[in-house]
Amino acid sequence: MKLKNKVAVITGGNSGIGFGIAEALKNEGAVGVITGRNQTTLDSSTIQLGVGFIGIKGDVTNLDDLENVFKVTALKFGKIDTLVVNAGGIVDGVPMADINDVTEENYDQYMDLNLKSAYFTVKKALPYLNDGASVILIGSSAAHRAAPGMTIYGAAKAAVISLAKGLSLDLLSRKIRVNTLSPGSIDTPVFGKIVPQEQVDAVKKLWIDITPAGRQGVPSDIGKAAAFLASDDSAFIIGTEILSDGGLTNLSLMK
Ligand SMILES: NC(=O)c1ccc[n+]([C@@H]2O[C@H](COP(=O)([O-])OP(=O)(O)OC[C@H]3O[C@@H](n4cnc5c(N)ncnc54)[C@H](OP(=O)(O)O)[C@@H]3O)[C@@H](O)[C@H]2O)c1
Repeated sequence: MKLKNKVAVITGGNSGIGFGIAEALKNEGAVGVITGRNQTTLDSSTIQLGVGFIGIKGDVTNLDDLENVFKVTALKFGKIDTLVVNAGGIVDGVPMADINDVTEENYDQYMDLNLKSAYFTVKKALPYLNDGASVILIGSSAAHRAAPGMTIYGAAKAAVISLAKGLSLDLLSRKIRVNTLSPGSIDTPVFGKIVPQEQVDAVKKLWIDITPAGRQGVPSDIGKAAAFLASDDSAFIIGTEILSDGGLTNLSLMK
């Protein structure tokens, strides 16, 4: 119970990796809040998490919604010890695409969801964070390794890795540590947002084939790493990136 009674907020905690992180933090004794826009999955996820967790609806690209999330969290639980900036990925109804098919609007939507929202989630949380808090930004192996259609998404996540450095410096006087946790290919509902359901298994297999660990990650893989970054066990880890990607970024399977 390394996080006993610590207060955590996990954005996008109603699905996939975010839910896996919420479960892992809860298993270490944390209480707190998951956020998302979908009330149905927020409700089912908070029921699954059980006592100690509530859901707050909000869009991370809307600064008023972010403000509300942290205000309500503080009223209910007091100041926050762990902030997990996880919401992101696919913009609803806007497939990832290569430069020939991307419009200026698409570019802004992807940057808003995957970069701007991360910065302003941290900024809006600041008045409600305890000194010494741990902030975990969810990056991606896509920041390091290009994949079809992922150019803007990868660039946004590369910038997120940079944010962890700059924000750690900005927040040094409050001893707030900001680190990026970058997943490789993780088995979550996101694949159903990228390709039609009947193609999901084939796409997952493509990722498994290039992942040295020989499998996709599962949300609990990322959850356990997040629990480490949230705890004092990682007290000396500041402004850096941890990859949890089964070797995808740094190992080549070329024969
Ligand atoms: N799965 C992977 O292979 C993988 C790999 C590397 C990095 N990641 C990163 O991991 C994070 C989670 O991805 P996932 O795979 O778990 O995807 P997911 O299952 O699609 O979950 C995405 C989460 O983000 C929330 N979200 C999306 N847009 C939002 C918005 N505008 N405002 C508030 N919440 C929003 C969603 O909730 P609502 O729809 O209810 O808003 C949902 O909870 C993302 O940052 C993604 O880029 C994933």
